[in-house]
Amino acid sequence: MNMTDVAERGLVLLGCGKMGSAMLEGWLRTGLPPLSVSVIDPDPSDWLKEQGVQIGGKLPKNPAVAIIAVKPQMMGAALPDVKALGNGETLVISIAAGTPISTFESVLGEDTPIVRAMPNTPAAIGRGITAIVGNDKVAADQMDLAEALLLSVGDVVRLDDEDQMDVVTAVSGSGPAYVFHLIETLAAAGVAEGLPADLAMHLAKATVAGAGDLAEHDDVNPAQLRANVTSPNGTTEAALKVLMDFETGFPPLLRRAVAAAAQRSRELANG
Ligand SMILES: NC(=O)c1ccc[n+]([C@@H]2O[C@H](COP(=O)([O-])OP(=O)(O)OC[C@H]3O[C@@H](n4cnc5c(N)ncnc54)[C@H](OP(=O)(O)O)[C@@H]3O)[C@@H](O)[C@H]2O)c1
Repeated sequence: MNMTDVAERGLVLLGCGKMGSAMLEGWLRTGLPPLSVSVIDPDPSDWLKEQGVQIGGKLPKNPAVAIIAVKPQMMGAALPDVKALGNGETLVISIAAGTPISTFESVLGEDTPIVRAMPNTPAAIGRGITAIVGNDKVAADQMDLAEALLLSVGDVVRLDDEDQMDVVTAVSGSGPAYVFHLIETLAAAGVAEGLPADLAMHLAKATVAGAGDLAEHDDVNPAQLRANVTSPNGTTEAALKVLMDFETGFPPLLRRAVAAAAQRSRELANG
């Protein structure tokens, strides 16, 4: 199954908010015919109405794929709309944080091929990273299709086991917020040392963005990149002595933060 099948059999999008729109924009940009897309959303945005997709009409009988992009708390109300697509040949992909595959199996039927995906907010600008895992009803070509569809909003990785999703959520799902806080606190520290607030924020944002790009694109690993800019007895080394402190620095702090997020994800999944 591939994008040609999607164009022919159709794609159903349940929920077209921030994430749904970002994905749809990518699929249309890469050539998916608008008329092959059927959207269900109670309050379609102006942007959506201009895309030439079908909104709120009758769903295709046997679409290649149905994407669930509503908030987890709306799931109970929204899922019955696509119940007819369960237990068949339609691949269901959910991007809802914290909703386990078993929830979809219990509503849509145990024989439904279901992929659970965890994207993150940079998906809005095509720079997300999404982890995917499927139940045993998902055929290899359907997994490839899920990956192809999610590549429209950034990078994709496959998990071996759904249990890994809690830690993935704690690292990449919630991770952008940690980086935003790093920007905030780096800027605030610059202000505390005497810089004007707007200048400090400009420096902090550009530094995080540039370093992130470098870490992603350079073949050298981040530890080596760090070592490369750390001259003995220099300014970077002075800061890193604080940040890399085994008891008070980043290592124990991020260890605790990620553990707290993973634990919360497990609690939410168990209701
Ligand atoms: N944003 C992220 O970075 C991110 C990251 C990882 C995972 N996710 C997951 O992605 C999903 C969507 O998040 P989002 O940020 O895109 O949320 P969002 O902007 O609130 O989008 C959800 C959309 O679903 C619509 N909706 C509500 N009830 C519906 C129903 N019964 N039938 C069909 N559509 C319905 C909403 O309409 P109204 O606005 O009119 O209610 C809204 O347009 C969530 O499950 C979230 O956990 C998001």
